[in-house]
Amino acid sequence: MVKLLIGQTGDGKPFTVDPSSLTKHTVVFGATGSGKTVLCKSIMEEASSQGTPVLAIDPKGDIGCLAIRSENFSFRPFSDNEAKLLGKNPEDYAKELAGQYHDSYNALARDDDELNRFVEKTDVRIFTPRSNTGLPVSMSPRLTPPKDFAKKMGEDPSLALDMLELKASNLLRLAGYSEDGKVQRSLISTILEDEWKSGHELTIEKLIELVSNPPFEKLGMLHLDDAISKRERNELSRRLNVLVTDAAARAWFLGEPPDFDRWFHKSQGRIPINIVDLRTIPSEEGKQVFVEYLLQELFYWINRQEGTQTLQYLLYFDEIHGYCPPIREPPSKKILMHLIHVSRAFGLGIVMATQNPVDVDYKIISNANFRFIGNLSTRQDIERVRTGLSLRADAFQVISGLKTRQFYYQIFDQAESGILSSRWLISYHRGPLEPLEIKRLKEGAAPEKMTVRAVPLSVPEEVFLRDTDRKRAKKGILGGTEERIVFAKKIFLPYLDFTYRFPAERGLLSKQMVMSEGRSTVLALREANFGFDPRLVELASMLADMELDSASIINGVDSTVLVSERLAELKNLLRDYEAQSEERSKQYEVLPKESPTRENLKENIEFLRKTKLLRWKMFADGLQLPTKLDLDKLELLEGTLFYMPYFIAKLSRGGESRYIVWNHEGREDDTIADEMTKNKKFRTLIETRAIP
Ligand SMILES: Nc1ncnc2c1ncn2[C@@H]1O[C@H](COP(=O)(O)OP(=O)(O)OP(=O)(O)O)[C@@H](O)[C@H]1O
Ligand SMILES: [Mg+2]
Repeated sequence: MVKLLIGQTGDGKPFTVDPSSLTKHTVVFGATGSGKTVLCKSIMEEASSQGTPVLAIDPKGDIGCLAIRSENFSFRPFSDNEAKLLGKNPEDYAKELAGQYHDSYNALARDDDELNRFVEKTDVRIFTPRSNTGLPVSMSPRLTPPKDFAKKMGEDPSLALDMLELKASNLLRLAGYSEDGKVQRSLISTILEDEWKSGHELTIEKLIELVSNPPFEKLGMLHLDDAISKRERNELSRRLNVLVTDAAARAWFLGEPPDFDRWFHKSQGRIPINIVDLRTIPSEEGKQVFVEYLLQELFYWINRQEGTQTLQYLLYFDEIHGYCPPIREPPSKKILMHLIHVSRAFGLGIVMATQNPVDVDYKIISNANFRFIGNLSTRQDIERVRTGLSLRADAFQVISGLKTRQFYYQIFDQAESGILSSRWLISYHRGPLEPLEIKRLKEGAAPEKMTVRAVPLSVPEEVFLRDTDRKRAKKGILGGTEERIVFAKKIFLPYLDFTYRFPAERGLLSKQMVMSEGRSTVLALREANFGFDPRLVELASMLADMELDSASIINGVDSTVLVSERLAELKNLLRDYEAQSEERSKQYEVLPKESPTRENLKENIEFLRKTKLLRWKMFADGLQLPTKLDLDKLELLEGTLFYMPYFIAKLSRGGESRYIVWNHEGREDDTIADEMTKNKKFRTLIETRAIP
């Protein structure tokens, strides 16, 4: 892998980092504002552009700004607030910023590919625990055993026991116990051990039962009741029960648990940068619990991957103080130490930053391969770093004299040290993101996947793309403007497959009433009405579960309510026609025979009658109903949604646009294309999906 450019040395040479050596973790110290986050983010920008996925723990909400990037460095609307604070016009300020970022980027003498790789080939996702602001990420209510747990227990029992304890203490803290709930922890870890050894997956509900009635009589050397009284066990069950019943506690389970197979997997050719914004967790205690959980899950996951020598994933943890204090052993420290321990074997690079080196365990500091020390203001902080890293006595002078974005660095495995000025970022570095900004970024993020029942598109998309281009008006011999392809994309429209029942007369003489059933489909959207289409029912056998980008799916109304609405609409319409015809007929009767109005009225009545018939026929054909039917007796049964692919292209020239739509078989579908031209609501609905 190419070396990562993160700044320049004191003598103006580029300062680069070998990605593989990042697997021997990195620490960054510096007072507030010294540029730690910028330095770490430059590593993330570089590594992700080169193909390494990132997981970042973001306590302050400024790592999420990695998502604000553009090829021409225009950062509006995200720069508008800052402009306001500075009393500048947003437009002017955005230009000023663009100039500054441009110049800083050009000063690095890189080719445009670098910029493009970061902007186009990485995908920033902001996860927000307990909240839907970003992508919600939850703790799993399932206590799934780590893979091969029984084997681990034999091979490395102390690690396996640690894993049990960590899981147990994580649960206990979630249930409101402090670190000293020791008996409770040993009860839960014993239950977990039993279940995990036999490969069982536990749920919290099941655990609650087992806590009340443990399947063993002794806990360690003591009889169960002597180790933990019945009352304490009941209290423990009660508190665990709160986790499943209380709304505030249930917020922990909002969204999906972290899925590193997905988080670390390229999606649509883009390298993911996953940022977990901790600000949506209200308490410090809660943040600790969540971080412990997240790191445990990462630990389990990484242990299942293949060993490697090269950098595969990056974990960036900003503001690490409090998570690995020097004297205490909170679970977060334990799990971080475990991760550091295995990181080299699995290609995990860990980058940690803090402004409080005094609050970080000595082992973490002294074992780091890359050490970056920015300006530190207090003698105590400098001393801590100096002794932790065995720096020479004159380091004090150097460190206290560092400017913003200047770092004293040491690379342990190369016995190298010096001064580094970190490079300017490509993404917009500014203060914490606001919830609304996170929402906005989420909507623009790479699409999530959705599993839906859909009919496959039987022609490859490339064929449609080629056809679109073929149909595009080119420059003629006389010149003129070319037609431009605004978008050309596969979009899935929703349909409802529904059944219904109605009484119909049977038999010529007996006129016996029998119940008949039927089935039809309808476009499951309020924005357009193409009537009922029973022919689509025949496609049922082609339907398959497909995992699709949610950005290519237009979600439909998943119930027969839409059909009832259409039915009600029709009834009103028919009633209206009826009333109008009656009214006109009355007028017709009283008019003298020779009156010219009479003739007009007659035509009018005839027209109403025909229209009414036509409307009825359209409806009845779509439902394959007999002509005579009391609409009030039509009963809707169930409906299920399915999706039909269309390839939709929009071509534009000189302010005029047209649409070409192909259906799943590759045939052109003018109905949908016409509707898009005429119906603004329908058009907008599709275009918001098609134009990112
Ligand atoms: N795009 C950019 N690239 C590099 N540096 C930037 C950029 N934008 C702003 N800066 C500089 O980065 C400095 C802030 O650095 P940073 O946020 O990394 O500090 P920090 O050490 O993380 O502080 P804290 O401990 O408060 O989080 C600003 O003072 C500014 O000079
Ligand atoms: Mg910072």
